[in-house]
Amino acid sequence: MTSVVAQDPAVSPAQALAVELNGITKRFPGVVANKDISLQVRRGTIHAIVGENGAGKSTLMKILYGVQPPDEGTIAINGEPTSLKSPTEAINAGIGMVFQHFMLADNFTVLENVVLGAEKLHGIGDAARDEIRRISSDYGLHVNPDDLVADLGVGDRQRIEILKVLYRGAKILILDEPTAVLVPQEVNELFDHLRELKSEGLTVIFISHKLDEVLSVADDITVIRRGTTVAAVNPQDVTARQLAELMVGSELPSPQTEESTVTDKVMLELAGVELAAAGRANVLDGVSLTIHAGEILGIAGVEGNGQAELVEVIMGMRRPTAGEVRLEDDDITTWGVREIREAGVGYIPEDRHRHGLLLEAPLWENMILGHQTQAPNIKGPLIDARAARADTQRVVTEFDVRTPSILVTAASLSGGNQQKLIIGREMSHTPRVLIAAHPTRGVDVGAQAAIWDLIKHARRNGMAVLLVSADLEELMGLSDTIRVILRGRLSADFDPDVVTKEQLGAAMTGADGSEVQR
Ligand SMILES: Nc1ncnc2c1ncn2[C@@H]1O[C@H](COP(=O)(O)OP(=O)(O)OP(=O)(O)O)[C@@H](O)[C@H]1O
Ligand SMILES: [Mg+2]
Repeated sequence: MTSVVAQDPAVSPAQALAVELNGITKRFPGVVANKDISLQVRRGTIHAIVGENGAGKSTLMKILYGVQPPDEGTIAINGEPTSLKSPTEAINAGIGMVFQHFMLADNFTVLENVVLGAEKLHGIGDAARDEIRRISSDYGLHVNPDDLVADLGVGDRQRIEILKVLYRGAKILILDEPTAVLVPQEVNELFDHLRELKSEGLTVIFISHKLDEVLSVADDITVIRRGTTVAAVNPQDVTARQLAELMVGSELPSPQTEESTVTDKVMLELAGVELAAAGRANVLDGVSLTIHAGEILGIAGVEGNGQAELVEVIMGMRRPTAGEVRLEDDDITTWGVREIREAGVGYIPEDRHRHGLLLEAPLWENMILGHQTQAPNIKGPLIDARAARADTQRVVTEFDVRTPSILVTAASLSGGNQQKLIIGREMSHTPRVLIAAHPTRGVDVGAQAAIWDLIKHARRNGMAVLLVSADLEELMGLSDTIRVILRGRLSADFDPDVVTKEQLGAAMTGADGSEVQR
């Protein structure tokens, strides 16, 4: 394998370096997040950074963007040694960053979001509006300055984040996991935008766990493992599997196909569920579905077609305006979240920051969240902190949550490790039914395989799973049946063994012209 690895990408003198990091070290209490990292990014290229969850990718990019100083090491931008003490200094040096979690204010317009903090450039009125329109049309970003952010989908929000960075004059763009939240069509569009930026001479650095995508769009790839650069590779020389093996430092097991475990015992049933929205078409429109013990039902769809609301109705976070939700023999249509969870429904939420974690609380408190009244967390009427801590330690070990301690806050974990903590919490209460929204979003390939195994294992033991995902590979690999949600309605069943990605894609956009059944 080492034959595919060149320690230094060939840099011809003509192709100067946009970014050169040398010997970067960054310590946090109990962890060395970056250990003597070196990175060379050629100007006018798309450079991917890959590595396991917690490897140190976001930390390194935040150093380059001036969010946090390195403990050791040097930074050179376009050959000039630089010390970046704040994002403002980074922006002045031509660097812009789009973060792993978006930072737009919902109740403001695109224009207001873009100009915020950059009022000196073009004011806050027509000149700014014109500039946004110009950038939007130059790079084909389709951003309308007067849209309200709250009304926009994730793909739109991401283009706004990119525009915001270009507005500030960035020549080097850092994108942290830009494709994690996008559906396949949007990913292709994003990559077209990145190639467009590159052809204008800009430099793009992006972090991703989707190795096929990395191979298709990157000019150079740097692999980081446990805080250290382990390889600089040319995408032509590696397969996705080899890249994954470089990331984890060992060979990966081959995936195995499995016998169906679907039984005829109905665990979760929705009948004619409607969710009305004031002045608009129903968000959920006559949704009926059945999931049996031992079955995984996959829901595919372009974001914003009702999948989030479907999950919220099942979890008791929203009450349907018509129809019924049943959990085995119980009608749970009017039950609240706590009752539903205590009845054995596990929940992996789509937005881990909003619904899954208390970011400023320590890991062990997060482990109790939603299970405050269950063993081993209580002793009489009180929380048994010792037992809860011991249980957290077990989950952290079992689910390979990379953290120096269970006393640190959830916010200090890397994105993928936050997700592993939530999955560990939900699975350790052995739910009868699991509602999983994008369970492996932002999770590295090794952890993804582990989460898939875990879900399959629980299915073998009779768990019923509703799997909402934007990742078609994941849906096709795990589901027993796939249904597509479009404008609040569910399609007929697709058999994951025979359906193609293109067919699913067509059903997701309505391009297949199929009469959507009720
Ligand atoms: N502010 C912080 N305080 C304490 N520890 C931190 C902080 N930021 C990061 N870390 C730790 O540094 C390590 C690297 O985290 P980082 O976020 O850079 O990982 P990553 O490669 O981006 O992972 P992911 O793919 O999961 O996003 C992790 O162990 C993380 O817990
Ligand atoms: Mg990260």
